[in-house]
Amino acid sequence: MVSREVRDKLTQITLRRNIIFPSADIYPPMGGIFDLGPVGKGVRDKIVRIWKKLFIERNGYFEVDTSLILPEIAVKASGHIDHFSDPVTTCKSCGAKFRADQLLEENKIETAGTTIEDINRLLHHSDIKCPNCGNKGFTEVAFFNLMFKTNIGPVEGTPGYLRPETAQGIFMAFPRMFKSYGKLPMAMGQVGRSFRNEISPRQGVVRLREFNQMELEYFFDPNDQSFPRFRDMAGKKVAVLTYEEQEKSKVQSKAEQRRNEAKPVVLTCQELLDKKIAPNEITAYFIGLTFEFYEACGIPFESMRFRQLSPSERAHYSGGTFDLEVQTSFGWLETVSLAYRTDYDLKSHETASGSNITVVTPDGRRIIPHVVEPSFGLDRLLWAVLEHSYRGKDEAHDWEWLNLPTALSPYDVAVFPLMKKDGLAEKAQDISSLLRNKGFTVIYDESGSIGKRYARADEIGMKWAVTVDYDTLKDETVTLRDRNTAKQTRIKINEISSIVSKF
Ligand code: GLY
Repeated sequence: MVSREVRDKLTQITLRRNIIFPSADIYPPMGGIFDLGPVGKGVRDKIVRIWKKLFIERNGYFEVDTSLILPEIAVKASGHIDHFSDPVTTCKSCGAKFRADQLLEENKIETAGTTIEDINRLLHHSDIKCPNCGNKGFTEVAFFNLMFKTNIGPVEGTPGYLRPETAQGIFMAFPRMFKSYGKLPMAMGQVGRSFRNEISPRQGVVRLREFNQMELEYFFDPNDQSFPRFRDMAGKKVAVLTYEEQEKSKVQSKAEQRRNEAKPVVLTCQELLDKKIAPNEITAYFIGLTFEFYEACGIPFESMRFRQLSPSERAHYSGGTFDLEVQTSFGWLETVSLAYRTDYDLKSHETASGSNITVVTPDGRRIIPHVVEPSFGLDRLLWAVLEHSYRGKDEAHDWEWLNLPTALSPYDVAVFPLMKKDGLAEKAQDISSLLRNKGFTVIYDESGSIGKRYARADEIGMKWAVTVDYDTLKDETVTLRDRNTAKQTRIKINEISSIVSKF
């Protein structure tokens, strides 16, 4: 588990270095809405780049970019009008609003699988005081829909909603895309913003009202649940916490405790199938691929697990879900949901729109495809990556630093002149331009002592720093400093790009 102290220190860095900060913060805070500065965006873009390599390009899937605003009929069909709500209650003394189930959970009262009536009863029979003013007394619990609503155009009565997930745009693009592609399995992914009007987001970037998702919808014929080239993933080791294991480990204890006490098992993707933990090759493949992705992002194997959700924990569309959870300072944090959405979404859109969304299989059956969806919360992953990369002072560093994987370095390389004078700054700028022209992202810094610049680069997780000194002017060499060891090697200017791009 990452400690609370690490979270606090990291928060200081993210604010000091403008990596992540509250949006529009010259005004009173909105809560749950954050901006990224260049470093945060640099790391996030690189996470996305790896995701696209693995989840889109590796198997030749499609990437789309669909609208943020959806018509009411679409979100009615998808079930988000009727089911996408959280229970809200208001403090009678100060008027602060809270998610009632969270209030109960924070006071060690379990709510998993309970109805709104149960939540109401539990809250009003408890001793819970308002976290804001300390008084007792809450209003009746009511459902609050989490979607942001607006009007499409200047007229009332044409409601639109900011999408609560990127997935719906993919489902609605499916008939059109299938027409030109023409066969199953077929997969479409999307990276983009989604919106949830959380009742009281209080956990930094972990619970956001405006957030980023990377989602893939894998459409297949339910009569064929094999995955093409599954053998490539069969031997991949993963950690899984089955529902059965969670149930077994102390029947008397509370659900959250059970989840924490139960031990995940390490199995290969083939064993997930053999032991019938994964229902099919498709699910087993994406469990393996997700582990591969997270390891590439620097999350240690032992700090993650796929947890099988109980039926009462699943979303309204799901016929079975595994969440990838990562150990963070917030405890085990869900950052990926791998859901078997069946034909729920396509069928609902077919009914609501009257469009024909069926496809004909090679053996002549007319079916609505089923869907497996790996859905990634990008902001949570970014935070987990930062927490796991945080390092305090050590032998090689007299300062805090981020041990980001090289592939996630916010810029590819930093370039520093040893001094500003004697033509060193001009030479360093020439080298920066040369590298930028070759397609590298470069941060150039000439302010303060060279030691301070190394410290500043380490603090944002820069892997490589090139320093231009007096020898550079004589022999076209520079020093290349490796963040992890702080060791410097003398190399030729024309060798920089091959060393940096090797990683
Ligand atoms: N598409 C799944 C989710 O947004 O939770």
